[in-house]
Amino acid sequence: MTFSVFITRKIPEEGVKILKTVCQKVEVNPHDRLLTYDELLKEAKGRDAIITMLSDRIDARLMQEAANLKIVANYAVGYDNIDVKAATAKGIVVTNTPGVLTDSTADMAWALLFSITRRIVEGDKLSRAGKFTGWAPMMLLGGDLVGKTLGIIGAGRIGTAMAMRSRGWNMRVLYMTQQSRNAVLEEMLGAQRVNLEMLLRQSDFISLHAPLSEKTRHLIGAKELSLMKRTAYLINTGRGAVIDEAALVHTLRNKQIAGAGLDVYEEEPKLKPGLAELDNVVLAPHLGSATNETRAKMAVMAAENIVAVLHNQRPNNCVNPEAHT
Ligand code: GLV
Ligand code: GLV
Repeated sequence: MTFSVFITRKIPEEGVKILKTVCQKVEVNPHDRLLTYDELLKEAKGRDAIITMLSDRIDARLMQEAANLKIVANYAVGYDNIDVKAATAKGIVVTNTPGVLTDSTADMAWALLFSITRRIVEGDKLSRAGKFTGWAPMMLLGGDLVGKTLGIIGAGRIGTAMAMRSRGWNMRVLYMTQQSRNAVLEEMLGAQRVNLEMLLRQSDFISLHAPLSEKTRHLIGAKELSLMKRTAYLINTGRGAVIDEAALVHTLRNKQIAGAGLDVYEEEPKLKPGLAELDNVVLAPHLGSATNETRAKMAVMAAENIVAVLHNQRPNNCVNPEAHT
């Protein structure tokens, strides 16, 4: 059999190499940009497999028109960009890249936490502008971490890794999860499972790691933001739409919380009006998994998932096992 695979953005060669050992045709989006929906539709037709980015919308229509498609291998751990229900109905396997990006994403959450609490971006801007005129006792004061309370919303792999890193600062950890109790956090950190209101009221730092779903969309809105301490920080390395971004702009503008560190946005890559003008927020362009090592591992993982499905085997990272008969 001859197999044809399309990759919607250039990814590390490690993955492409694996695909080339099994597939006759492996094509990569030649542009240095996202494909439009129509371009994606055209490229998906006739393919046996596609590697997709979290920014590609893979809907029922696309999977209908790409009649040969056996697998959509998402190059991400989150897969809210894919209509999984429609895929399952068509027997199309959907896979993701969990595990390999856990540490890099947890690191990114801490990088944002440090950047905003210690005002690194503001300081960088000031230094570059030639406004650093000498050490000053009251310049750019931030907050301490030691002994503070960290609230984790979504205590899966990444949320757990984020929380485990707090040991260095002796933090008290609260967490919330839709899954069962997190024994690792409770036993290793003495973490306490609480409801959303308690987490919002008591945390000094809140880090979001819940996947985006209808249940978590705008989980953090105006009301929730109003329950946070005025001195607290909000960090988001999950999905933008878990926060009502317009409400966050309003909250930050009025200094109702101390600040935010964001890696993801509600309408990525667009920012809500006003967000970019604020100094009490650090804005990263969705870099959670963006390390050389992690991206290479994600490429291998996505490629191996495709090879398994094309060989009629069960892929390691299937999110809809019902599709695989
Ligand atoms: C990144 O956001 C991912 O889901 O991998
Ligand atoms: C989410 O899928 C995670 O790895 O935390």
